[in-house]
Amino acid sequence: MQSIGKQNVIIKISSSLNKKETFRRFIFISFYAIIINHSNITVRKEASMDYSQYIQNAQQHIAAILEKQFARIEKMKAETAFTDYSKLSTIKIGIVGGDGIGPFITAQAKRVLEYLLADEIKSGKVQLIDIEGLTIENRVACGKAIPDDVLAELKKCDVLLKGPTTTPQAGDPWPNIESANVAMRKELDLFANVRPVSIPDQGIDWVFFRENTEGAYALGNQGLTVNDDLCIDFTVTTYEGSYRIIKAAFDYARKTGRNKVTVVTKANVIKTTDGKFLAVAREVAKDYPEVEWDEWYIDIMTAKLIDEKRRRDFKVVVLPNLYGDIITDEAAEFQGGVGTAGSSNLGKRYSMFEAIHGSGTRMVKEGRAQYADPCSIIRAAGLMLEHIGYVDKAAKLFSALEICTQKEKRLVITGRDTGATSQQFADYIMETIQKI
Ligand code: IPM
Ligand code: MG
Repeated sequence: MQSIGKQNVIIKISSSLNKKETFRRFIFISFYAIIINHSNITVRKEASMDYSQYIQNAQQHIAAILEKQFARIEKMKAETAFTDYSKLSTIKIGIVGGDGIGPFITAQAKRVLEYLLADEIKSGKVQLIDIEGLTIENRVACGKAIPDDVLAELKKCDVLLKGPTTTPQAGDPWPNIESANVAMRKELDLFANVRPVSIPDQGIDWVFFRENTEGAYALGNQGLTVNDDLCIDFTVTTYEGSYRIIKAAFDYARKTGRNKVTVVTKANVIKTTDGKFLAVAREVAKDYPEVEWDEWYIDIMTAKLIDEKRRRDFKVVVLPNLYGDIITDEAAEFQGGVGTAGSSNLGKRYSMFEAIHGSGTRMVKEGRAQYADPCSIIRAAGLMLEHIGYVDKAAKLFSALEICTQKEKRLVITGRDTGATSQQFADYIMETIQKI
């Protein structure tokens, strides 16, 4: 409502005002106009913003989200135990190349697996199955993060070794479809993203348990563009989802004798969802009296990772999805970068093992794909061997990786023709295993 012009007073009435308020304002402005000697008073109804439709749309959007999340919670409640691989007559390992440098480095990891599992493959205890089609071109053509036929192939396997896949974002030449990684983690319910970082010389022995199906990622592609002015994303924390990842971290700390868990949140600010995660951690911790535990906020934890005096104190770290994504890249950097780290995505029925870096499409464009570092995906293959029960073979592979990348370094990967190719490096690793 405002007065305009010298002779006329125009009262703009917002359509959202009720009658009583409209009348009150009319009387007030009329007196004002009389006092300042204006005589022509016009009341004009102003076209005010009506948000009710936006609000209704948002309500429907949120109702649909809640329904899906409740269905998810029911599924989690009905979950059974982890697969016992020793009881399977054949362990089916799916090999998924992915995009960019993915097929190049995954082929090398496959060679290492064929070498280490030669007897098991011969006897039929282990089968390696190539799965094609998880490429950005095919995903875009199908308009799906994971095309249906590819998903069906994935589900025929017990464990998967996956090369990096391109994740489009707004503004990319690709349609902004959901990340294949994120979709696979959700589809196969791979809730525990376990990322170890180890630098024995510096006393660093960290194992991150990143929650993999909830947090900011759960609805990363289901945010709400309310209108041009307002966008909202959602973050999800469930009791079941928090319980199972925190329990996995404490079980691991107990089983491996590390006996120390750090729970990382930003619960002082993100009070509802991170608050819940922390409350569940406090509950779970009571069942593990022998496991020491502490709670940190993500900001100071990120800083303390570079504090040489303090960082050795961290052992097993459990944290919500997005914090886990960020901090595991930082942690991997101490070990030689994301190219050196591997990651396990564990669920009760399926598990997937992958490199933690991206698809390096620039290397392919520049004709350097054959020089890509295969160590991350080879390490992921080692994590897979360990997970399915071949602990000794995994141990050999990890020590060969340490010799080749940190101690001996007879060959180095530079990402260009100044260094070794992925294939030469995989040969170097296999030769080293032979000597162990
Ligand atoms: C990772 C990656 C993925 C993630 C991307 C590729 C979707 O950064 O595995 O950490 O954010 O989880
Ligand atoms: Mg990441």
